[in-house]
Amino acid sequence: MTSTITVAETAAHPTACPAFPFSRPEGFGPPAENAGLRLNEPISKVKLFDGTECWIIARHSDVREVLASDKFSADRRTPGFPEIHAGGIKALKKRPTFVNMDAPGHRSQRNMFESFFTPEAVEKLRPMMQKTIETLLGSMVEKGCQEPADFIRNFAESIPIQIIYRILGVPEADITSLSHHSEVRMNTSGNAAESSEQSLAKYMSTLVDKKIEDPGEDLISTLVLDQYKTGNLDKEDFDNLVFLVLVAGNAAVTNSIAMGVVTLLQHPSQLEEFKNDPSLAGKVVKECLRYNTASALNSRRAALEDTVIAGQKIAKGEGVICLVQSADRDESFFTKGTEFDIHHDYDSKDNLGFGYGPHRCIAEHLARAEIEIALTSLFQRLPDLKLAVPVDQLKFTPPAQNIGIAEMPVVW
Ligand code: HEM
Repeated sequence: MTSTITVAETAAHPTACPAFPFSRPEGFGPPAENAGLRLNEPISKVKLFDGTECWIIARHSDVREVLASDKFSADRRTPGFPEIHAGGIKALKKRPTFVNMDAPGHRSQRNMFESFFTPEAVEKLRPMMQKTIETLLGSMVEKGCQEPADFIRNFAESIPIQIIYRILGVPEADITSLSHHSEVRMNTSGNAAESSEQSLAKYMSTLVDKKIEDPGEDLISTLVLDQYKTGNLDKEDFDNLVFLVLVAGNAAVTNSIAMGVVTLLQHPSQLEEFKNDPSLAGKVVKECLRYNTASALNSRRAALEDTVIAGQKIAKGEGVICLVQSADRDESFFTKGTEFDIHHDYDSKDNLGFGYGPHRCIAEHLARAEIEIALTSLFQRLPDLKLAVPVDQLKFTPPAQNIGIAEMPVVW
């Protein structure tokens, strides 16, 4: 699966500098610009909200090259790092965590967390995940759908939130009240979101204190014993890292579940096959995650030195946004890349929606398992589930946010 497009074509100079992010007229489908960029201007310049310019990278091979290279920084303090909206700049006020660090600091923090998210560790979490998801599904079903139920509020958004709380070791008695803060933080902006973020951060910092005094058998307690008490981690980094893991993937998992449901409803014969054979869950989720990229704006970098990608010079201090949504449909890499087919044959590592290289999502196996259990349980329990409105009347997230569905009324 190699590119058929020549270096001369890839080196074509951008002719204009459009505003970015592009609009998404088809809801969660890719912006109209993506396919043309892949063909004609795979590395081109765009203008961001504050008037600064940066590069966007549209092809699978070029995205891989950037994300694997140590010539690009993930540190948001690096000159030229591209921010998508003004809110992103607040991240600069905190000490960074490994998601926004370069080697060697990145590796040493990431190492502290890897063992919690290996395929083996995720397998052990399956019974807890299954129970969490079935309980949430049961309460949505119990409420009924005389009035269409919002699939996001009643089911999808609580799944990653409750699961990560249980992994971290949040006491069961606190999960409902704390979930409220996670949901407000995820779904609103301005003061309400800020206040919920502060409440969450304060709660988690106090929980860390309690576990320092009296460790149990959860993720935070393991970090207390292996990293904090051994002097590898101070309290400020500990709190920041716990908060990172608490919030990092919630929206992406929620949106992947919701977009997966809509995509399957739009492909009824494939959905039928999945309902009749739930063992297809792994393939279904792999294809849903490739076809619908819930993390389209996550993989951003700044060049640390002058470098050349596919014939295009990128200068030190210039920003780069990897269009992983475009890369995941790149037809020069994926056969029939713009089509949804649960039998498509490719390696799940080729899905760049989880990133690539040293920063590739640490919790990929966890996220895949959550989505597999959610889609399987849902269509086994509610085989007649359908949208209560046409797809174009769903409420989607705005272009400056990662791709997702904000409201999704369903009936069954
Ligand atoms: C469908 C769900 C998810 C998607 C699509 C996703 C996507 C991503 C992407 C694209 C990156 C790399 C960002 C970059 O290149 O700079 C990343 C990193 C990361 N993700 Fe996820 N993620 C998901 C779920 C999760 C979950 C559930 C968690 C936590 C429990 C999580 C925690 C992290 C962390 C901590 C990193 C930083 C890794 C590093 O920098 O070394 N993600 N994720």
